[in-house]
Amino acid sequence: MRRSGPFSCLLALCLLLPAALALVPDWTPPLSTRGRYIVDATGARFKLKAANWHGASGTWEGSGDKNDDTKSHSGENSHVLALGLQYVPIDEMLDSFEAIGINSIRLPFSNEMIHDTSVIPDDWIAANPQLKGKTPLEVYDAVVAALTARRFAVIINNHTNKSRWCCGVNDGNERWNESQSEDAWIADWISMVQRYKSNPRVVGADLYNEVRRDLLNDPNWGDYDAHDWYLAAHHAGDRILTEANKDILIVIEGINWFGLPVDGFPHGRPTLDPAHQLSHTLVQPDKLVYSAHFYGYTGPNHSGATGIGETSDPRYQDLSKADLFAVYNSSAAFVALSDDSHFTHPLWMSEFGSGIDTGDAQKPWWFNTVEFLTTYDIDFSFWPLVGFSDSGNNWALQAWTRASPAVRHGLLDFDDWRRDSWLGLVNATAAQPPADVPAHWRILNLDAEDYVKSITLLARGGDWDSGARKGVCPDGLRLLGLSSSGRARGICADTPSAGGATWGAARDTEVVTSETHVAADWASGFTKYQCADDSFAIGYALRGAKVSSVLCAKADRVLGQDTSRTVWFNQGDQRADGNRGGDWAVSQYKGQCASDEHVAGVAFSTAWARNGSPAALLCRK
Ligand SMILES: *[C@@H]1O[C@H](CO)[C@@H](O)[C@H](O)[C@H]1NC(C)=O
Ligand SMILES: *[C@@H]1O[C@H](CO)[C@@H](O)[C@H](O)[C@H]1NC(C)=O
Ligand SMILES: *[C@@H]1O[C@H](CO)[C@@H](O)[C@H](O)[C@H]1NC(C)=O
Ligand SMILES: *[C@@H]1O[C@H](CO)[C@@H](O)[C@H](O)[C@H]1NC(C)=O
Ligand SMILES: *[C@@H]1O[C@H](CO)[C@@H](O)[C@H](O)[C@H]1NC(C)=O
Ligand SMILES: *[C@@H]1O[C@H](CO)[C@@H](O)[C@H](O)[C@H]1NC(C)=O
Repeated sequence: MRRSGPFSCLLALCLLLPAALALVPDWTPPLSTRGRYIVDATGARFKLKAANWHGASGTWEGSGDKNDDTKSHSGENSHVLALGLQYVPIDEMLDSFEAIGINSIRLPFSNEMIHDTSVIPDDWIAANPQLKGKTPLEVYDAVVAALTARRFAVIINNHTNKSRWCCGVNDGNERWNESQSEDAWIADWISMVQRYKSNPRVVGADLYNEVRRDLLNDPNWGDYDAHDWYLAAHHAGDRILTEANKDILIVIEGINWFGLPVDGFPHGRPTLDPAHQLSHTLVQPDKLVYSAHFYGYTGPNHSGATGIGETSDPRYQDLSKADLFAVYNSSAAFVALSDDSHFTHPLWMSEFGSGIDTGDAQKPWWFNTVEFLTTYDIDFSFWPLVGFSDSGNNWALQAWTRASPAVRHGLLDFDDWRRDSWLGLVNATAAQPPADVPAHWRILNLDAEDYVKSITLLARGGDWDSGARKGVCPDGLRLLGLSSSGRARGICADTPSAGGATWGAARDTEVVTSETHVAADWASGFTKYQCADDSFAIGYALRGAKVSSVLCAKADRVLGQDTSRTVWFNQGDQRADGNRGGDWAVSQYKGQCASDEHVAGVAFSTAWARNGSPAALLCRK
């Protein structure tokens, strides 16, 4: 099934493009992460060079007749379908996507679209009569199938609930749980992921678009309440991976906005900054991709508005290159540019863009942003991919006239000032992940609830210490450190270069709640819960602050006993390898064994004035 016709270019230019840009290079699903990189099933880098094909999330601005084109954003009415199907045959659109060098598509949808069972009118898909008689969701299915048949990777994105243009003030799309439960949101996700499970080129679930303040409430990251985006994303990610598809990438965006955009009141874009302190650990530790959105007209503390909602803060386009790079890194790209931390993950700049005639103010911002993405080899997705050239909105990479037949006026078809920088971006050489696989560092967080990340333990019901708060490392990782009092955090690691032992094939575990295995007094005056010889800790449980049990896994080999040492951390930080893994429990006392050791025991005390929280680790090689 190859292209149905020649390029519909106005100029011969696109025919002259190198063949390397024409087809999506072959790749093997599923995708997963390796340190800061996304890789395919063969371990080769798969850099998301993407664009947003919007429309199924709605273009209506929220008032007037939805069928009146002038009531859609920029007069570009998608009719809740991927934009353009009424004017352009889909194969011609896919040809044009290949021609601009992208390999993946972020495909937003609205919840309303999913549940709309009405058959679409023929004129909504006039240029694609093969789609006659379908519902909006069936058209979405057909778009997914057409894209993936051309080897595009598709990331489905829950963009809006109501089918309307996103992200105005109080548009009812601010948060995942607007007027419904978190469970209903997750249930919808599970059904969407299951719907495309048999298509392995549907590679990602982008959980929610631009989580931000609604009229009354700010979202937060780690307050464990109904507005906690950290927690909601963590719940949804784990449930998708366990109940719908263990192979899909989970894309979690930072917080897009908090506060009232009024000078003198706190406001801004935390973006991914809170992940410095608290990153997500999912049951599949190689499936998390973080994302962030940047536009020149918005700013670190600027809402993007002009007039009402405008503050005196700078916009990104007002920043010098050095300041822009610094804020991109501190708010988002640090996840990819720090290689040995709990927050080390790929960053996908899943929305950025600039129009052809947005004025000179945005041009330096655009060139600086492209330079940032190129220099630091960051995955990206331009917004928007498709538009109508006669609508007055000249942002799209590929645009068509609305006359019949539609004529393309895209990035490659005339002297678009963005063209060379765009081609340089998609054509830049993507680095391959280092052969020496980077370590995984993953946080356990028992502050609010159970944090059982082992598929093996979950399959056994997960409740190995009933009534206690339990944390277990993802399968393949071992416990390497704990915090004392305050926040209840642990750090898991694999550090493969240390050639450590792994969990035995039978997956034997023991819940230790006594000193039975203690042979020598390695923490005098303290209670010591120690694993049996040849076992290592993979989890622990607390009741209040007090250690309730240690979960030990039987190793696949005999472990040495003679290299034990005690690491005390009830008076300060004691981390053997300096800052390896990053600061996984900020301003808490922490103990961490070295990367070539394992935790063989945890000591605590409930004596007077002590609360039973972890105080010392027995570290062994
Ligand atoms: C989401 O959309 C549905 C209609 O599809 C509507 O019933 C529901 O109230 C909407 N929820 C919110 C929060 O707007
Ligand atoms: C969702 O957030 C609202 C606040 O807007 C909160 O009142 C409500 O309890 C949350 N819903 C659920 C089911 O958690
Ligand atoms: C998308 O998010 C909306 C909240 O605005 C929610 O109502 C809906 O259930 C979500 N749909 C999916 C498939 O996650
Ligand atoms: C600007 O935003 C940052 C990051 O969200 C925040 O820490 C800071 O307090 C904000 N400044 C103002 C003036 O609101
Ligand atoms: C980005 O931030 C990380 C973490 O703070 C730092 O290690 C790295 O050097 C920074 N990179 C650049 C290019 O600024
Ligand atoms: C893309 O890169 C190749 C070599 O890596 C080069 O030959 C080609 O001219 C580049 N194309 C564009 C459009 O920059």
